[in-house]
Amino acid sequence: MKTLNVAITGFGNVGSHIAQLLWQRQATYRERYGVDVRLVGVCRSRAGILYAHGLQAADLVSPNWTEGLTGEAFLQALQADVLIETGTSDFQTGGMGLVYLRHALRHNMQVIAVSKGALALHGRELFDTAKQAGLSLLVSGATAAALPTVDFVQRQLAGCEVLAIEGIFTGTANFILNQMMHAGIGFDEALQQAQADGIAEADSSFDTDGWDTAAKITIIANALFNTDLTIHTIARAGMAHLQAADMAAWRAQGLMPRLIGHITVQDGKVSAGVAVRAVDAEHVFYRVNGKNKAMQVVTREMGALCVQGGASSPQATAAATLKDLENLLKQA
Ligand SMILES: NC(=O)c1ccc[n+]([C@@H]2O[C@H](COP(=O)([O-])OP(=O)(O)OC[C@H]3O[C@@H](n4cnc5c(N)ncnc54)[C@H](OP(=O)(O)O)[C@@H]3O)[C@@H](O)[C@H]2O)c1
Repeated sequence: MKTLNVAITGFGNVGSHIAQLLWQRQATYRERYGVDVRLVGVCRSRAGILYAHGLQAADLVSPNWTEGLTGEAFLQALQADVLIETGTSDFQTGGMGLVYLRHALRHNMQVIAVSKGALALHGRELFDTAKQAGLSLLVSGATAAALPTVDFVQRQLAGCEVLAIEGIFTGTANFILNQMMHAGIGFDEALQQAQADGIAEADSSFDTDGWDTAAKITIIANALFNTDLTIHTIARAGMAHLQAADMAAWRAQGLMPRLIGHITVQDGKVSAGVAVRAVDAEHVFYRVNGKNKAMQVVTREMGALCVQGGASSPQATAAATLKDLENLLKQA
């Protein structure tokens, strides 16, 4: 039986859920793909563990961390076929996520990226490095996770020419917009309510200023259209300026505001951005409730197709990450 050695960098909510699911699904992978998938290493910000013979159940209960076994030290000691990066998203430099991804692709590892910083800043370089090395760089976790995006287009819409993509990619922003419309309140009040209910974090500006959507739409564009966009170069508008009066005006016209990430392909030119748009009751985005997301793809041959749902949770993100792993196993 073939063996596939997997490592995880970053071991917080998502990384630890992936480790658990990997362990639970090991027998399924053997049976379904004839591959023994072993978790051979994990690291967090200050420590790491290498499992010479693969993770055992007891390791999940009481991990035996080695201080300092992270970063370059972890990479130098690691022997893996697949690296799953779930560390912090650093949108200023790419941070250690960028170091992990570059190292993996230069050392013949398949890569599954869940963190977004490195991809949103250096996506073109990373996708090109992967392609030149004949490796996969799979990004479901970094591109709305539980909502299928890149692979939906690459697999389900293979054979189509894509003319446009638009989507609700940030669940928290969608939740707050829904609250604003239903209660007829402005942004500040809705945010305070969402924070009091534990739905929005103390600092939600990354989501509500459109940065999260910008990161996802940038990565989607670079993955699908060979573009060289970065989170800082695409047009971006957030929703913090919206007032109760804006809600009243939209309601009077039967419209619903949405924070939309969009890509347009025209005459071979690709443009992308983030903006608040008001959609009418006929639009599929009108009834995307709660923290759900949605994506509509307009193709020349099949017209418009839509996926929706995919509210975020560490477990859902872990499952989306293992979807990428299963796609690698199908090729193994
Ligand atoms: N949560 C979701 O549902 C979701 C969905 C899609 C994408 N993401 C992305 O996935 C990533 C992880 O999210 P999360 O919710 O799991 O975050 P988290 O709980 O804060 O975990 C982050 C992990 O990264 C580790 N880390 C920080 N610096 C590191 C370094 N230099 N080397 C190795 N590990 C390092 C942290 O180490 P310590 O344990 O030592 O602090 C922690 O284990 C983020 O980039 C996030 O944007 C999350």
